[in-house]
Amino acid sequence: VDELIAEGVRGKRVFLRADLNVPLDDTTGERIITDDGRIRASLPTLQALRDAGARVVVAAHLGRPKGAPDDRYSLAPVAARLAELLEVPVPLAADTAGPGAQAAVAALSDGDVCLLENVRFEAAETSKDDDARGALADRFAALADLFVDDAFGAVHRRHASVYDVATRLPHAAGRLVARELEVLTRLTGEPERPYVVVLGGSKVSDKLAVIESLLPTVDKLLVGGGMCFTFLAAQGHGVGDSLLEADQVDTCRRLLADAGDKIVLPVDVVCAEALVADAQVKVVPVQSIPDGLKGLDVGPHTVELFAGHLADAHTVFWNGPMGVFELAPFTHGTRGVAQAVAAVVGLSVVGGGDSAAAVRQLGLDEDAYGHISTGGGASLEFLEGRELPGLAVLADGAA
Ligand code: 3PG
Repeated sequence: VDELIAEGVRGKRVFLRADLNVPLDDTTGERIITDDGRIRASLPTLQALRDAGARVVVAAHLGRPKGAPDDRYSLAPVAARLAELLEVPVPLAADTAGPGAQAAVAALSDGDVCLLENVRFEAAETSKDDDARGALADRFAALADLFVDDAFGAVHRRHASVYDVATRLPHAAGRLVARELEVLTRLTGEPERPYVVVLGGSKVSDKLAVIESLLPTVDKLLVGGGMCFTFLAAQGHGVGDSLLEADQVDTCRRLLADAGDKIVLPVDVVCAEALVADAQVKVVPVQSIPDGLKGLDVGPHTVELFAGHLADAHTVFWNGPMGVFELAPFTHGTRGVAQAVAAVVGLSVVGGGDSAAAVRQLGLDEDAYGHISTGGGASLEFLEGRELPGLAVLADGAA
């Protein structure tokens, strides 16, 4: 984007795709942003464009609405937070690419910003049909003179506002995308060793591809979170009522056999009958998870074991919480791992919305990490070595 800015963007309308997909708490009836990290990460590009006199049309998705306007997924709370952070009004268009969007864009003066409504209110945004996406991308392109993609968290999606619009306008990557690529490329290049990856999160099926492609490169792969129980079952342990993807047990068994001693699993877990804030917890070795109890966090011996591996590491990538850190009885594993990752001498990268949110919600110092990636799926697919449509299209040169 800095090259575009150097060429001059004053008075130009810039369609800026950002990833503003933030977690919201709506339990009180009001929709409250619980972690604004992605909004703050989008500010440098946005501010640079404003300072250069561009008219910035921000496009973003929020959650997964079903391709039609739905108030529960409106970007209104995001527009309000953006306005607070930028200290300027950020009007929210009444629609995504229709008369509301056209009016919002027409009202912009140089340096102004508006936000389009959730791009996923248009069914074509995520369509598999190239023509449908193309028609929406035409409407997006009609709103702007230039396209800047700063939505790193969405570059793995072949969506109209990420991919197709780039084929219709002169385009560039934003500063956030550039920074993410710079850091993640250090992991896929020749990471300083030992290189340790920590994976957590609930679904093992989401992580098998990345595990498979990381195994040859990493020195250790530490596995926690809900996904560890399918691995523990593959090792022959009973897992009580813990999360288990029975159809993935064989794959996990094969991965364990192929990995030698590279995969490190928990040795103890924090169990409870139910996922509630005042749960009675029991810490048990993985050999004796009782029937009727669910494992909801890794235990203290596991934290110690993982921290030992992390203390030796010179490069670390961590994706996915170790337990249900949102509830007090189950925060210790994630906090312990987060602290051990923060203490790494060398490059530490936190990837993924949930782990990044955990770092902030647990009150840990963000500056202690080499890099906190805004991309969850995107950073994993990048590490897998897959081609990411949103990046490939930018590399193809100006439209
Ligand atoms: C994310 O939260 O990882 C990104 O915003 C992408 O969201 P998606 O998985 O709904 O496409």
